[in-house]
Parts: sequence; C-alpha cells; structure tokens
Amino acid sequence: MIKYERKARVFILGGKSFDYVMRVNAAGYLQFVYYGAKIDYSPSLTAAYADTLAPKPDDFNMNMALDCMPSEYGGFGRGDFRAPSAVVVQKDGFCASEFAYASHEIKDGAPALDGMPHVRRGGKTLSVTLKDKTSDAEITLNYTVFDDSDILVKNAVIKNAGADAFELRKAFSFCTELPDSAFDIMRLHGRWANERIPEATPIGHGTVRVESARGASSHQMNPFVALLRKGCSEELGECYGFNLIYSGSFAITAEAGQYGALRVQGGINDFGFSWRLRAGESFVTPQAALAYSAGGLGQMSREYADFFRNYVIDPKKAFAPRPIVVNNWEATYFDFDRDKLFAIIDEAAALGIDTFVLDDGWFGKRDDDLSGLGDWFVNDKKLRGGLKAVAAHCAQKGLTFGLWFEPEMISEDSDLFRAHPDYAIGKDGVTPCRSRNQLVLDFTRPDVVDYVFERVSAVLRSCDISYVKWDMNRNITEFFSRALPADRQGELAHRYILGVYGLAEKLTAAFPDVFFEGCAGGGGRFDGGMLYYFPQIWTSDDTDAFERAKIQWGTSTCYPASAMSCHVSACPNHQTQRITPLSTRGAVASLGAFGYELDLTKLTDGERDEVRAQIRDYKSISELVLRGDTYRLSNPFDGDYFCVALVSKDKTAAYVVGERVHGVPCDYNRTLKIRGLDPDKLYEVEELGVTASGRTLDGMGVLLPRLPDFGAWAWHITEKKK
Ligand code: DGJ
Repeated sequence: MIKYERKARVFILGGKSFDYVMRVNAAGYLQFVYYGAKIDYSPSLTAAYADTLAPKPDDFNMNMALDCMPSEYGGFGRGDFRAPSAVVVQKDGFCASEFAYASHEIKDGAPALDGMPHVRRGGKTLSVTLKDKTSDAEITLNYTVFDDSDILVKNAVIKNAGADAFELRKAFSFCTELPDSAFDIMRLHGRWANERIPEATPIGHGTVRVESARGASSHQMNPFVALLRKGCSEELGECYGFNLIYSGSFAITAEAGQYGALRVQGGINDFGFSWRLRAGESFVTPQAALAYSAGGLGQMSREYADFFRNYVIDPKKAFAPRPIVVNNWEATYFDFDRDKLFAIIDEAAALGIDTFVLDDGWFGKRDDDLSGLGDWFVNDKKLRGGLKAVAAHCAQKGLTFGLWFEPEMISEDSDLFRAHPDYAIGKDGVTPCRSRNQLVLDFTRPDVVDYVFERVSAVLRSCDISYVKWDMNRNITEFFSRALPADRQGELAHRYILGVYGLAEKLTAAFPDVFFEGCAGGGGRFDGGMLYYFPQIWTSDDTDAFERAKIQWGTSTCYPASAMSCHVSACPNHQTQRITPLSTRGAVASLGAFGYELDLTKLTDGERDEVRAQIRDYKSISELVLRGDTYRLSNPFDGDYFCVALVSKDKTAAYVVGERVHGVPCDYNRTLKIRGLDPDKLYEVEELGVTASGRTLDGMGVLLPRLPDFGAWAWHITEKKK
C-alpha cells in the first residue's frame, strides 16, 4: 500500500505489518518521519512531530538545521555534518550537495535494474526524485512495498542532468533515520570456514561500520545488519534488518548523531570508489531489503526467507526439488581418475543419490592449485573418455551430472594466461598478490566475460550437464584494470561485479534447465545478489557437524534454508578433525539442500544402510526445507544445545533437528519449547511417541534428549486429526 496525502505532502508506505512515513517539509526536503508497526495516520501529530526536526524555510541559517533533520538521502557540505549518502564532485572540484524534493510518482510493480539483481515481480513502487541544489545531480529514490511482506526495498538512481561530467565518490543505495539509537547492532562476521557468525553490540555514539572492501561480499562480513531493540530475542521484541542485494564491496553504517537519532545507510563501499557520470548518464545503485519485525529476530528471518524465495530467486528454481548430490571434492581433492569417479558414481546410484558433481581438477593442467584455471578444456589424459564418459556413466546409472567451474579466475601457469596476461586484474611492473596461487580475471572487460561465456558454454554443450557449481576462491587486490582510463580506476570493483552478474545472467539464460549453485571458497559470497542467479549456495567449506550447525544458524538470520547447500562429510572432519556420528552429520545437513561430500566407496555396510535411510528421510521432509518456516529453538552459541525446527506454512507438519553440543552433568529436566506450531492443532511427535497440542508443545515443551556430545536427533511432527 502506498498513499500520498497531497495537502500535507506526506507519503505513507505500508507492508504486511509495518508503515514507513515520509513527508516533503516546508523547506522542500524529503524528511523521514516514521518506520515501525502499523499506525493510523494523524495529520496533526505528523506535523507537530516532524516540524520540530525540520529546517525553517525562511531562516537564513536554515541549512545548519539539516544536521538534525531525519533525511531520506544525506547531502554533504551544506550544514549536515553526518556521513552523506552520496558525494558528487563537480568539474571544478566543488562537492557540496543538498538534495531537495522535485517530484514523485507511484507505480505498480518493482523497478527492474538492468544488469543487476533485483526484485523480480509484484509490489507497488514510489519513486521520489530529488534535485541537488548545488550540482546537476538528480537522485531518484525507489521504494517498493508488498502487501504480503514486511520487506521494504529501496535503492537510488543518480542522474547527471547537466551538461558537464561529474564524479561520484559515494553512491549509497539507501538512508533511513530512526529517531533514537537505543539498539544493539547485529552483524554476521566470520572468516573462511567460519562464516556468518552473529554478533550484537550496543550502537553507542559515533559510527558503526560493517563492510567489505574485498571485491566480494565476503566471508568476513555479510552485507547485512539488524538493529535490535533492547531485550529483542528470537521470539519477542522489535528489530529492523538491512540487507543489500549485492555481491561486491559494500558498506553499511549506523551513525548516532549528536541528538541521538540514528542514520542507517548503505550500498557500494565508498572506500576507493568513484564513478564518472557524463551528461545524461545515470548510476543505478543496488537494492537494499529493509525488514521490520515486531516478533523478534525469528520473525525477521522468516520475512527475509519468504522475500528471497518469493521475490528474488528465479521462480522456476526457488521451490524446485533440489537434487541430492554427491560431490567428489573431499573424497578425492585433485587426485582422481575415471575409475575412481566411476566407483563413486556406482555407489551413489546404489544409495539413491540423484546427482554426481565433479569438482575442481577436470580441466587443463590441474593436479593441484598451482595451475590450469582459465583453461576450460577437459583433460582427457586425466579423465579417459573426457566428460562425455563421466556424463554417460552417470546417465547409465540413473544419475544426473554436475560440474565445477571457477569462471572468474586465471592461473599464471595456464594457456589462457600465456596468451592473454592482460586478462588478469593488476598493473604491469607490480608483482601481484597471489591467493591460492591464482589471479582474478578482469571482468570489467566485456571481451574477457565473453571469452569465459564461450568456453563455459562449449563445455556445457559438450555433454549432458544439468548442474553447475560456480566457485570463486580469492578476493581482489591491485584494483587496477589495464582497460580502464586513469579517471575510471575507482569503478573497477563495481564494474567487476557487474561483469560477474552479466556472465551469470547470460549463462543462466542460455542454459535454463541447468541448476546453478553458487560458491566462493565456501560461503564467501553468500548474499541476495548471488541468490538472484543461483538458488542455492555452498554455505561453508567447514562441513564439521558442530561448526556447521553454528554457521547454518547464523546464515538463517536472513536467508532461507533452501539456499544453504549442506553436505555430509567424512570423519575425522577435514577442517576440524572432530569426530561426530554419521547420524549427526546427516541431521545437521538435512536442514538445507542436502548432499554428500565424502568417498562413498569407503562406507561400511552399516553406514551404507544409514545413508540410504538418510536419503529416504530427507526426501520425506524436503518440502519443509523448500517451503517451510524456520524457527531457531536453541542457540548453539550460548547453550548446550543446537536446535532448529522447519514448520510447514499450513502448520500441519514440522521437522525438528537438534544437536547436543556440550554435555553437563545432572541436566535431567531440560526442556525445549517447540515453536511455530498451531496452538489449536493436535500433533504427534513420532520419535517421542507423544501427542500434544501446539499450545502444549510450546508451553510445556518436551524433554531434551540426554546424548553424548555431538549426538543429534530428528523429530517428525505431524498433525493428528482429532
Ligand atoms: C572451494 C570450494 O568451497 C570447495 O567446495 C571446492 O570446490 C574447492 N574450492 C575446489 O577448489
């Protein structure tokens, strides 16, 4: 719902259970008024409330008042001393900006951003155009709301409406100003093999900045923050989410101003950024998905999960049953030949697995990570009969075939690099920083992207490949393109990610039936931008069933369960050396898109039976992973148990997985409240032999099983017709 109160010049945007109010004040600025639970619009209250914070139109010193006006897009150098949302540097170097309302329009639908991920359908959009009083910049702020969602989508489009080129040094997507800063700010931080770990700290004074300057959204910091009202928990209390639908270098800042109000804004990282806009050109910023929840963090997470599944992920794939895969990476690493792979495929077929995914090492000269990237030609010597033979063997055994690529990378020891050293990002004369012995291709160059498209397409056409794992194993250094002029080098990081999106768009369009999985050294680019192209992403290179439980817990903060690829791996675990039961590994992995990452030929007979049962069981609950709601029941970061429930939308079924992470003595009567069920429905918890109403399962809870450390359980809950 979007309403415009013409006389008072007030905009009211409403989602399922929130309202967002702005107005054009008497001085002509677009002023933030309210964001929170639904309200009844009161003209007198809005005016009284907002007038105190607005500059007086006839006051000579009025611009100084901009420093306390809650602004929808902050300017610079005109009396607002907080961090601006955009910086426009004009021909003579002058860079003050003051954005004032010019016009607006309301339309059905959501704006499609050319070449960038965006909301695919639905909603209503308000577009407000602001004019910079001191330059030729025109900013259009888009706001999209949906009747069935508590997500508000914002972005900004900056146009050069003048005759001279200017340079953007900052171009954030959104700015929102909450009236106070009594929040904790939560971010999802991490590192390789330990991504998206939730951490909340008080805002305090000054600025909290969450960012990546790595050219990817990164393992280290997800492009997301949540503001939690004091006391906000999983189930109760107010919180706001800010999630960028973007995969490159980003920043989100929360700045408590001198009077305590909080400016939250974010977008492409302004560090090292510049963008030259010639007359008539526009710069489109990524979309940001803001969430409001009055039902705690859990409710916010469910809103994000629905939003990504319903509005961002390709609708043909969002709810499509996911193949259960076996991936050979941890089974063989680079050390495989056709016989080894065939043996894994034979075993996979016997166990009921759907897809065999051939990981790194099938192409060029690639027996380790020192060489071969970029040479997307099958290595027939290593793989007798090539990919065709593997695909044919899969088909013969009733499996489909998937293949790994790392399209954005190049090894210096590769034919591609020998022919085109300039294809790599970097500067002649400066020794490049290597990471995993590889360099990054210059995806700002259309010819490089086209080359990779041709090569990957040729491989995909060469035999029956129905699944692609798109990996990316290092971040950018030496931000320099040999193809960009000096005054456009600041555009590299964003142009790079536009190149990635361009390739993903072309490949997914050219191969609509292929299922694409994203990956970046595990979950180094797990964001809404990648989800637009790839419905699921390899969550982390850490497959240990205890560490993974925590990573999946954190990831579920703002992404759906179906987006998380989760595999059962071998023990001792390759990342942590921890030993956990196969049942625990299976239970934890079953909370996402399920598969195996181990040498199936080494399973014992008993393990084989267990795997068969895991697969059968996963198929019975996979609809809950695809379509259900996630309820986080027990937090592994501050308790002795991890526990998550997936509940069907109609509340007739639930699947609860738990893991005992740390044993303590004498904890006989610990209970777990099962949330998310219908209080009035009667349920049966199959494994416990318990029948109780949803109200009772939540109110009284059930006794937690007393298991050894890293023991797990899975409960199947179904409605019992009265
Ligand atoms: C990193 C990925 O996360 C792994 O799953 C595997 O594909 C390797 N790269 C291969 O190099």
